[in-house]
Amino acid sequence: MSILCGKNILLGISAGIAAYKTASLVRLFIKSGATVKVVMTPSSKDFITPLTLSTLSKNPVYSSFVNEEDDNAVWNNHVDLGLWADLFIIAPATANTLSKMANGVCDNLLLATYLSAKCPVYFAPTMDLDMYKHPSTLQSFEKLKAFGNIMIPATSGELASGLVGEGRMAEPEDILTFIENDILDALALRGKKVLITAGPTHEAIDPVRFIGNHSSGKMGFEIAKASANLGAEVFLVTGPTHQKVTHSLINLIPVTSAEEMYQACHTYFNDMDIAILSAAVADFKPKEVSTEKIKKSASTLRLELEKTKDILQSLGKIKTNQYLVGFALETNNELENAKDKLKRKHLNLIVLNSLNDKGAGFKSDTNKVTFIDADDNVMAFPLKSKADVAKDLLDKIINEIHA
Ligand code: CTP
Repeated sequence: MSILCGKNILLGISAGIAAYKTASLVRLFIKSGATVKVVMTPSSKDFITPLTLSTLSKNPVYSSFVNEEDDNAVWNNHVDLGLWADLFIIAPATANTLSKMANGVCDNLLLATYLSAKCPVYFAPTMDLDMYKHPSTLQSFEKLKAFGNIMIPATSGELASGLVGEGRMAEPEDILTFIENDILDALALRGKKVLITAGPTHEAIDPVRFIGNHSSGKMGFEIAKASANLGAEVFLVTGPTHQKVTHSLINLIPVTSAEEMYQACHTYFNDMDIAILSAAVADFKPKEVSTEKIKKSASTLRLELEKTKDILQSLGKIKTNQYLVGFALETNNELENAKDKLKRKHLNLIVLNSLNDKGAGFKSDTNKVTFIDADDNVMAFPLKSKADVAKDLLDKIINEIHA
């Protein structure tokens, strides 16, 4: 999943020959999961039709303050458009439009929207090589960058004039990558690696039966998504669950048993910055696993169980700089037990769930948690969605690792 998934992207098109490439750009944004609206300068319609763009973006295309075809002329509200956008990308951005943007000229809908937009603004210049180097153009670039707008530099190559030089609008794929990387670079966990365990483990009794628990894996998957949305590369070691995730920054490592989860965690841990162990690992497993299906001929069946390895504790023993987080599901003496676990397992933070709290626990979409850190700070939260609990947890971790 791209970091642009779910974002509202407003594409502003001005009148350069590179406007024909915006059909591909709209498709790339749509493919990455964004919602796209297009605002065009009137002259840009000479280079690409609004019909092409509205078909690809699945939205009306705006180019004037009122819809002329409409008898009951409706005002296209530039303020609403500007506020709707999470990102405003002006591509191609001609010397004329850039100069107007830099000087507050507001003689078309694109420019009025630019002046109203509060979101990050990217611009991808396009023009002939001498125009690109002209002091007036360079001044526009500098002014716009000083306003906080982000320039996606033009590239060198053959230009529409037949001349060869700098001034070609960046290719649509490169514009997409540029914006994705720019967003990722600003994220709090960019460059960090996070190990997360999720779900239950299944401990085989025979080829068809196992010992397991009711963990749905929801909490761990929400933590994985929230970490990736903050730019982290995630290694999600998960027991058997029905949860699904597709995100370019999440590496899914499916396992079945506690032993497999232990091995996978130890494979990745050394290289991690943060490890959050939210899995409900089986504490015991059958000592012997029958190679054949156990028949029900006997009236009773006795299974001898042995302890599984405590993954969290084993990581606590070998940790160097990793920020290590464990979960504790308690039914009584919750705070004391959780604090004891934090110390015993050498954790930086423990997330306490109490089974006494309604809406907290295995299968629900909500959770009620208390964070306890190594300095004995206790933060209790109200009942929240697991997605919001994940965000609170990452806020806490980010505060701690940047402290
Ligand atoms: N955990 C683990 N490996 C295990 C068991 C638990 O990594 N074999 C991790 C869980 O993912 C969770 C934390 O340890 O982060 C909670 O474990 P829990 O079973 O509650 O703690 P214990 O110390 O085993 O204590 P008890 O079962 O006695 O409450």
